[in-house]
Amino acid sequence: MTIDTGKLQEFLGRFIADLGATLAAGNVVIGHRLGLYQALAAGPASPEELAARTQTSPRYIAEWLGGQAAGGYVEYDQATGTYSMTEEQAFALANPDGGVYAPGAFVLALGALKAERRIADAFRTGAGLAWHEHDEDVFLGCEQFFRPGYTANLVSSWIPALHGVDGKLRAGAKVADIGCGLGASTILLACEYPNSAVIGSDYHDRSIEIARERAGDAGVAGRVSFEVASAARFSGTGYDLAATFDCLHDMGDPLAAARHIRQALTADGTWLIVEPYAGNTITDNLNPVGRMYYNGSTLLCVPNAMAQAGGYTLGAQAGEAAIRQIVTGAGFTRFRRAAETPFNLIYEARP
Ligand SMILES: C[S@@+](CC[C@H](N)C(=O)[O-])C[C@H]1O[C@@H](n2cnc3c(N)ncnc32)[C@H](O)[C@@H]1O
Repeated sequence: MTIDTGKLQEFLGRFIADLGATLAAGNVVIGHRLGLYQALAAGPASPEELAARTQTSPRYIAEWLGGQAAGGYVEYDQATGTYSMTEEQAFALANPDGGVYAPGAFVLALGALKAERRIADAFRTGAGLAWHEHDEDVFLGCEQFFRPGYTANLVSSWIPALHGVDGKLRAGAKVADIGCGLGASTILLACEYPNSAVIGSDYHDRSIEIARERAGDAGVAGRVSFEVASAARFSGTGYDLAATFDCLHDMGDPLAAARHIRQALTADGTWLIVEPYAGNTITDNLNPVGRMYYNGSTLLCVPNAMAQAGGYTLGAQAGEAAIRQIVTGAGFTRFRRAAETPFNLIYEARP
């Protein structure tokens, strides 16, 4: 065996960066829970000052700040012994309602990792592990990570990219948000389109319970409603818009869901399908975004699909060709990519 020391060094460098990032994940979530990023974004601080601002122990804060600075999540000024955040760090780490909220992604990741032993067992048995069997941080983190992207894109670019949908929603339309989770997209649609009736559904009862509370908090409880129902069984017909946000690939029977959506839409209705960004081949997905999705999908999406009847396990990196096959297989005659972001592909399907 001949080891190329240059290649070995390169690999070990990658491993150390990954190990540091893995351990740092817990500290990002601690920063999120204790409001440490928001407090530091307010202005430069020594560990003692940040501890005073957040009513926390200075010794823990000093260690936490060292890890954050080593990872490039905050800045350190050796001359003054203070830490600070750039505008960009604050944008991604300190504002849960901004365009990106990285700590939410870590809440989701740590929540998913709590199932690691059960997933390892599932590798052996071939059994599934359903969404509702995960730690509650999976549902909460998913919403915290996805909502900023929906806030930034849904009304401003995804809906306008669909044929005639924005006008219908403004005039007053009937909307089904299927697999809505905690209702981030449902509530956003209800807020933006007050003349429309939005009905969110998800098979997971606890998610729907939280979605109802959030709709009440957002003041839209009167024009949004929720039901516990699988995508193949949600109630009602005559919908002008059906939407599935990051959930079609999670389903054991996405074809049954697509058929049900098809019959629930009006003749000129639209299905908005938001899916993770993915290429059609494995090689297309061998990049940092693909790595995040393949690994998340191993813990969440594929096990959930395997826990449901239907025989499909699309996974988060299914790609456009696989989604097209489901959609056209259900009788939709028009299917196109309407928009995209670095994390999402947005498709439009019409009967
Ligand atoms: C990744 S989460 C996305 C949640 C939400 N749409 C969002 O974007 O924040 C996937 C959601 O799909 C739901 N789900 C999984 N299988 C389902 C099915 N067969 N029918 C309805 N919902 C399903 C889960 O309960 C979960 O809320």
